[in-house]
Amino acid sequence: MSETKAPLESSERFKPVATRRDFLGLAAAWSAVAAFVMAMLGAMRLPMPSVFPESNSRAKLGRPAAFAKNSTTYFPKQRLWLFRGEDGFHALSSVCPHLGCIVERKEGGQFSCPCHGSKFDVEGNLTGGPAPKGLVSVELTVSPEGQLVADTLQEVPRGTVLNA
Ligand code: FES
Repeated sequence: MSETKAPLESSERFKPVATRRDFLGLAAAWSAVAAFVMAMLGAMRLPMPSVFPESNSRAKLGRPAAFAKNSTTYFPKQRLWLFRGEDGFHALSSVCPHLGCIVERKEGGQFSCPCHGSKFDVEGNLTGGPAPKGLVSVELTVSPEGQLVADTLQEVPRGTVLNA
């Protein structure tokens, strides 16, 4: 009696390690695990603000004598414009009250937001665009050492001037 040989493909030795279905299932499971881990890492960052306003809202700008009369100085780190007129100092935030872009100062002294086109006059009053209000006038004080100090979280009425 002759023995029939089984084809090679049916042998245990030639079975594929993983079928395509197994591979796709594992890939989907690992993708889900990776997405969950990334979402958790993102969620862990949420309660921590990346900027602590209390720590950097006050900034020394320099001695008043360092600014010439009728001069304008921009402080990019504090995002504010400092103006010295005939009667004293005032400061405007350069942060657009619409969605927070940095406004640009134009040739004539007006301000324009590059993001959605809000316009502000030389005093910072809103003249057009989607912003809900004008630029914020920032509080200025003089420190005990005689330095001008701006507090970008303290808004003062427009037209407030610091004599220093
Ligand atoms: S952020 Fe300035 S107009 Fe929208």
